[in-house]
Amino acid sequence: MDLTLGEPDFAPPAHVAEAAVEAAGGPLGYTPSNGMPRLREAVRRAVGRYRGLDYADEQVAVGCGAKQVIFNAFLATIRPGDEVVIPAPYWASYPDMVSLCGGSPVVVPCRAGSGFRLTPPDLAAALTPRTRWVVLNAPGNPSGALYDREQVEALAEVFRAHPQVLVLSDEIYAHIRYSQDPYVSIAAAAPDLRDRILLVDGVSKAYAMTGWRVGWGLGPKELIARISVVQGQNCTQTSTLSQIAAVAALDGPQDVLAERNGIYRKRRNAGLAALASCPALTVPVPDGAFYLFPKLADAVDDVAVADRLLDAGVATVPGSAFGAPGHLRLSFATDVATLEEGCRRIAATLGVRS
Ligand SMILES: Cc1ncc(COP(=O)(O)O)c(C=O)c1O
Repeated sequence: MDLTLGEPDFAPPAHVAEAAVEAAGGPLGYTPSNGMPRLREAVRRAVGRYRGLDYADEQVAVGCGAKQVIFNAFLATIRPGDEVVIPAPYWASYPDMVSLCGGSPVVVPCRAGSGFRLTPPDLAAALTPRTRWVVLNAPGNPSGALYDREQVEALAEVFRAHPQVLVLSDEIYAHIRYSQDPYVSIAAAAPDLRDRILLVDGVSKAYAMTGWRVGWGLGPKELIARISVVQGQNCTQTSTLSQIAAVAALDGPQDVLAERNGIYRKRRNAGLAALASCPALTVPVPDGAFYLFPKLADAVDDVAVADRLLDAGVATVPGSAFGAPGHLRLSFATDVATLEEGCRRIAATLGVRS
């Protein structure tokens, strides 16, 4: 049972494949390094639709996935020794990217008691004159945690006192959410900070297009221009065919988003129910994304537990990989039968309440 998957197990919507097949026989030359104009337009329309945000064309940079946009942004801005604040649990790539760009990752542990969210006092305590970036990722990988408007506004208030700090808002999972509440992007909640916020998103998770490698950043013109310079000198642009497919995803019918959220919600609930009888695990209910992030009973080595589970035929990712030892990440980007059997084996291995 593989419960490690960090990508949707769906195919992209049919109209995406159709658009790509149709385009594949035509000219597919270079595009501008910040993306085809019509993709940038589609991105601007989408962010208007889903976040109510308005960006100019020069405020959009397309790259080979959200990952490359983030890397380009760090490479373009981090000076040796600059600090980047990364709340834990975190997506494992952030600290490595910061280190590769010559910066120092500053990891701020977020407690399960605060829903794995960064609190304003913890943020304030982590900031120094060397802080260049703060990373926000909601819904979070691996925690699935979201911030409500009040929480986002409270973080924004801390940023106001530190004008040298740039904010990376990684919103790649924003379409995968389990409540009807609208998504709160810090770029919308704190418009006065928009000249320091890089909002990152892409087609990977929402449209099940991980392998197509299309993501984008939206932010201040100067930062976007610098990101595009880096992009132009590393791989010129992301694939032209993929950009055409991404336009189809963004401009085509959007019902797939709600449909798949419904499927993920059922799986999430099935996983929570299957683990409920296991006293060795405390399982928070994720607000979004497609992971459960249970806490193991005190002082248990998560890597050793993940090894034991492998022996029982279940692959999970130990929380240490996300800067949160003592946890496991279980992906529910898999069918319910696999998920339930995986959770049953986890419960059987760790002990079930009698
Ligand atoms: C939090 C987070 N950000 C960014 C990415 C990268 O997305 P992309 O496929 O667009 O590069 C991932 C992928 O796992 C992720 O989990």
